[in-house]
Amino acid sequence: MAFADYQNEIYLAGLHGVTPRLPMTCAELEPLAQAAMPPSVRSYVVGGAGDEFTQRANVTAFEQWGLVPRMLVGARERDLSVDLFGMRLSSPLFMAPVGVIGLCAQDGHGDLATARAAARTGVPMIASTLTVDPMEQVAAEFGDTPGFFQLYTPTDRELAESLVHRAEKAGFKGIVVTLDTWITGWRPRDLAVSNFPQLRGHCLANYTSDPVFRSRLAKSPEEDPAAAVMRWAQTFGNPLTWDDLPWLRSMTDLPLILKGICHPDDARRARDAGVDGVYCSNHGGRQANGGLPALHCLPGVVEAAGDLPVLFDSGIRSGADIVKALALGATAVGIGRPYAYGLALDGTDGIVHVLRSLLAEADLLMAVDGYPTLADLTPDTLRRVR
Ligand SMILES: Cc1cc2nc3c(=O)[nH]c(=O)nc-3n(C[C@H](O)[C@H](O)[C@H](O)COP(=O)(O)O)c2cc1C
Repeated sequence: MAFADYQNEIYLAGLHGVTPRLPMTCAELEPLAQAAMPPSVRSYVVGGAGDEFTQRANVTAFEQWGLVPRMLVGARERDLSVDLFGMRLSSPLFMAPVGVIGLCAQDGHGDLATARAAARTGVPMIASTLTVDPMEQVAAEFGDTPGFFQLYTPTDRELAESLVHRAEKAGFKGIVVTLDTWITGWRPRDLAVSNFPQLRGHCLANYTSDPVFRSRLAKSPEEDPAAAVMRWAQTFGNPLTWDDLPWLRSMTDLPLILKGICHPDDARRARDAGVDGVYCSNHGGRQANGGLPALHCLPGVVEAAGDLPVLFDSGIRSGADIVKALALGATAVGIGRPYAYGLALDGTDGIVHVLRSLLAEADLLMAVDGYPTLADLTPDTLRRVR
């Protein structure tokens, strides 16, 4: 089935008086989902660093590019499939790691709901270290869709190794190490309500279920949850340096991907150190409000990465955004907040709606503008419009 078919499904259902349960654009989804979230979850998901300039710039950066239509191409069938780390994926879209995605679901098990959406759509989930349900239970819901584990590298190396080896055993297909969040950025919305979910004991299942983490505690997390949270806070953030990279590399034979790479020199250095992929992202503007949209970093990272795949996220809100990021050289493109909003409103079905809408729009744009395959999407297909 083509991704574009979602459009026909919707129009045909309309003949029976049925309209989509959720809005068709991220802009309309956002306020509805925000209203549905409890205030503590809302500030954490919606907010970003500082006055959120970077967060907004991530989104508006896409308005600076336009795709040139080509005619008489006959792009009746499109191929959006992509090879990633030796796996054939039906599309280049993935779900970026979102800690607290667990709390975004009305039943409090959003990690499982997201994994089920991955199974239904073939769109991979990168599961955060910060989940409500342990990674083994999340991975069990992936079906045939490959999943990735995102590591927040703790200061305790044995714990890091335990998390990675559990991910290997659970069947994850790659390890994404996030580099930009060893310390939390300045987030006024969360500060205003003095709310940091993990300090309240949320989303720590991968730690409290871990034998190494448990061995560091005088009493079990069930007996003394406050001590477990304190231990988590002491061990969470590791200000890694390039000297740590050989150790990270040595931990696993799975594809190793570094998240948060925005400078070409960092991409080159990562490639030289033997990683399998780089992930260009500014954490959706949640970490630093330095003002540079992630999209502006993408071409330089792509060039420096050479033949390594480049994953990209931050600011994707439409199928057109996906196409533009691909044209600028991304191998695969991730979304964060949009799927959290779909989940908050309608569980797994809500995520599936968001993913199918994005993919249908991307597919139809490629059809209308005459770009039948991802290989046809090159920087030449874009023009600066501002
Ligand atoms: C609520 C929230 C929690 C996040 N948690 C994580 C996380 O645990 N690990 C991580 O690497 N990135 C995390 N991110 C960043 C996302 O992976 C991604 O980089 C970002 O959301 C992309 O930007 P977008 O929201 O504009 O699509 C989080 C983002 C949000 C919105």
